[in-house]
Amino acid sequence: MEFFLDTGIVAEIKEAVQLGIIDGVTTNPSLIAKTGRNQKDVIKEISGIIDGPISAEVIATDFEGMLIEGEDLAKIHSNVVIKLPLTEAGIAACKRFSQKGIKTNVTLCFSVNQALLAAKAGATYISPFIGRLDDIGQNGNDLIGEIRSLYDNYGFKTKILAASIRHAAHVRESALLGADVGTMPLSVVKALYKHPLTDKGLETFLADHKKANS
Ligand code: E4P
Repeated sequence: MEFFLDTGIVAEIKEAVQLGIIDGVTTNPSLIAKTGRNQKDVIKEISGIIDGPISAEVIATDFEGMLIEGEDLAKIHSNVVIKLPLTEAGIAACKRFSQKGIKTNVTLCFSVNQALLAAKAGATYISPFIGRLDDIGQNGNDLIGEIRSLYDNYGFKTKILAASIRHAAHVRESALLGADVGTMPLSVVKALYKHPLTDKGLETFLADHKKANS
């Protein structure tokens, strides 16, 4: 499973890169707004920090506007992946970008049928939003399993990018269900390391070593 960091905050990306297990970055308009910076500047800076896919989302909602914005974002760096909403215009733009060899991440996916449309349009990534489905009383990870079956049935190459991950259990479940990628905040990445028996075991090992060597 690849790990993407879900943030626009450069300091967090720098910190996460040091961990040695981060493969890319995803942003969205809300995450960029939190930085208080211009989207292009943020994406450009991120491309100098990590050598992996960086999703940058279009703001336009019409087909032509998405093409213009996407082309512009793709020029920032070859690692930039154009993030498009799962709408009629977004799927049509996805098809156009995939024909041109530009990578895409189709976002705001909440159903198997939507994931089918993205794969048919040649999306590089489909982003099912686990946490937001949980928020409305559905099991977000069920959708990951269903999309995995669908894509395997037809041999679609679109990668399943589990998004809207809110906690470590989301990572565990989506990994077991076969998500290709998980995008998560730094706090969730850090939570993955934690186990009380690891802490307790390490404490004992160090204490025993000290006793034996004093
Ligand atoms: C990333 O690609 C998504 O935009 C993000 O994971 C959404 O997360 P949220 O539902 O916590 O806002």
